[in-house]
Amino acid sequence: VNYLVEKTRGQIVDTLLTGLDRLEYRGYDSSGFAVDADKCNKNYVIKQVGKVSELRKLVKEANMDMSKRFSTHVGIAHNRWATHGQPSQKNAHPHRSDPAAEFLVVHNGNITNYRELKSLLESKGYSFETETDTECVAKLAKYVHDTHQGRLDFTELLKLVLVEIEGSYGILVKSIHYPGEVIAARNGSPLLVGIKSERKLKVDFVDVEFPDINVEAVPDDVTAGFNPRLSLLRSNGLLDAGNSLMVPGLHNDLRHSQSRAFISDDGMPIPTEFFLASDLAAVVEQTKKVIFLEDDDIAHIYDGGLHIHRVRREDGMSSIRSIQTIEMELQQIRKGNFDHFMLKEIFEQPESIVNTMRGRVNFENKTVKLGGLSNYISAIRRSRRIVMIACGTSYHSCLATRDLFEELTDIPIAVEIASYFLDRRPPLFRDDTCIFVSQSGETADTILALKYCIERGAMCVGVVNGVGSAISRQTLCGVHINAGPEIGVASTKAYTSQYITLVMIALSLSEDRLSKQARRNEIIDGLGKVSAQLEEVLTLNDKIQAVSETLLEKPKMLILGRGYQYATALEGALKIKEISYILAEGILTGELKHGPLALVDEDIPIIMIATKDKLFDKIINGIGQVTARSGKPIFIASQNGPALIEGNKKGNGVTDSQTDPKSAEKSYVKFEVPETVDCLQGLLNIVILQIFGYWMAVKKGYNPDHPRNLAKAVTTE
Ligand code: G6P
Repeated sequence: VNYLVEKTRGQIVDTLLTGLDRLEYRGYDSSGFAVDADKCNKNYVIKQVGKVSELRKLVKEANMDMSKRFSTHVGIAHNRWATHGQPSQKNAHPHRSDPAAEFLVVHNGNITNYRELKSLLESKGYSFETETDTECVAKLAKYVHDTHQGRLDFTELLKLVLVEIEGSYGILVKSIHYPGEVIAARNGSPLLVGIKSERKLKVDFVDVEFPDINVEAVPDDVTAGFNPRLSLLRSNGLLDAGNSLMVPGLHNDLRHSQSRAFISDDGMPIPTEFFLASDLAAVVEQTKKVIFLEDDDIAHIYDGGLHIHRVRREDGMSSIRSIQTIEMELQQIRKGNFDHFMLKEIFEQPESIVNTMRGRVNFENKTVKLGGLSNYISAIRRSRRIVMIACGTSYHSCLATRDLFEELTDIPIAVEIASYFLDRRPPLFRDDTCIFVSQSGETADTILALKYCIERGAMCVGVVNGVGSAISRQTLCGVHINAGPEIGVASTKAYTSQYITLVMIALSLSEDRLSKQARRNEIIDGLGKVSAQLEEVLTLNDKIQAVSETLLEKPKMLILGRGYQYATALEGALKIKEISYILAEGILTGELKHGPLALVDEDIPIIMIATKDKLFDKIINGIGQVTARSGKPIFIASQNGPALIEGNKKGNGVTDSQTDPKSAEKSYVKFEVPETVDCLQGLLNIVILQIFGYWMAVKKGYNPDHPRNLAKAVTTE
């Protein structure tokens, strides 16, 4: 929204398209935008399936007058990742209320009661043109508007729409009835407001305006019907077409009584631009001043003011939304000299893990200080159980550090995939500590699991990368992993930083344990060296690329690991499958003989993680099981480590003196990584598999930054 800031249409469209470019990384299948047309009762809506570059082509063909100037203007744009309805031009956002596009909506999330809303609106004469859940919001907005004969303020109107919607949303609404205004609202999907002003802002927070209607105060007897919540509108007379019953208290003149424009000393509004986005990456090059909205917030921008309202009243909800200054820089979300974000982020790891530890690990005194946890460490130590909850790669970082938590804390540790945890709704107690690990901090499954745990009174701790994210705000305490923005959909640097953060938490929890001192010191020393060792692993890039080229035709692959390296095997397999579309399976080596061994033959590629640790004898055993079935593993092994291949055995099991193990090993591919403390070895080993996955994808002609069907942050259940 630009208010009293003169812009040409070309500049406005460019701002929207650049924003879409910046959000491309989150994964999407189509995109679109709406800007004001020449008359204020019309919009231009352009949408296209595929990449933003396809949308740009359409813009060129549309022949809009790009030199037309606007002093106040609202544009909305969206990258879509399909939940309901195929990716298609028609299903792309914005969605409209009617052919005249009186209301236009873009939406992230998933409206779960859209079928009920749709059939209700159809019964009122609305005909739907898409298969999306979002369209019902635009149509419901028009319906409420018409039923009230256009007398509602934009906020009032949206409140009535939003109380009918179930599910998750980050939503923007633009309307020809409210030119120069926009509404943004969120529930379960991230949304922030960037503020850019020609003069220094006089305010550092925005007051929340609490509801003027109490939507909960509806008598029980009207909540019957096919969708109980729809009865709310019905009880207010809104769903009976032609009936102009008003909701009591709704028609205060909000505009004048609650205006909080950004004004200058002389009382005049300051020319200001507002950027509404689901992600910092979309606004970072415009402004560093942002407000993170909370669930059930409605942000209404008009007359140069930002007004935040609540959909419903909630006790304990803060009435202040502070304007924060973010530290992210544009270059952090640019590829630099790398072909892909994924490769850039893999190569950033020696630095990103140092950022994770900076100011926290004291390598001389062998201490760890985590500011965000310091007041809670002793409470966590007293917990009966620690439950780690996450999805995808973040889940693997929990698995990778579970053994260490058990060893250092002597507290039982459970590791849970958020969706499975929610499916089961397991018992949880007040003396449990739950750690929620999430790169984005916005993953719907993890947030819902957090809600479940908060409701049961457990202590909830966040481990997130996303500053200002839902998980960082809703947990009691936590640690930012400080990995910097991660753009590649396949998570790499966030994994190693999560891993290190969890190790630091385990170290903090055991700081009072004398018996663990020697072990803690060994780990802290290991952490001090790991960045340089990671640099060394990166020098294997060319060799890994060459090996990947020999395997491009293989449709499946096994990755074997045990102990600490089981998580590495799972995470490595995930990397390979999500970007190179090879069926890669991570297998616990101990489980080989219980099934997966049947897959082993001379043809299937097998990567075995065989770095030296206390399980080494068992690893050798596993290698024997594989090679005896003609399997030819590729090894990830310790530099100058012990032999992995036994020489040929004679009948009595004694090694044949003719075949010395070292020379037998020469015919196997081996990636040698520096040795570190057992519990940190996974930090180095995983990098081989990240690079391997990257090259498999690139050599097969796929873009690793945009894996098909996947999104970076999955904000729907
Ligand atoms: C998606 C991403 C994965 C990520 C997972 C969890 O599936 O594609 O890369 O690991 O979500 O995301 P989070 O942001 O919670 O770590």
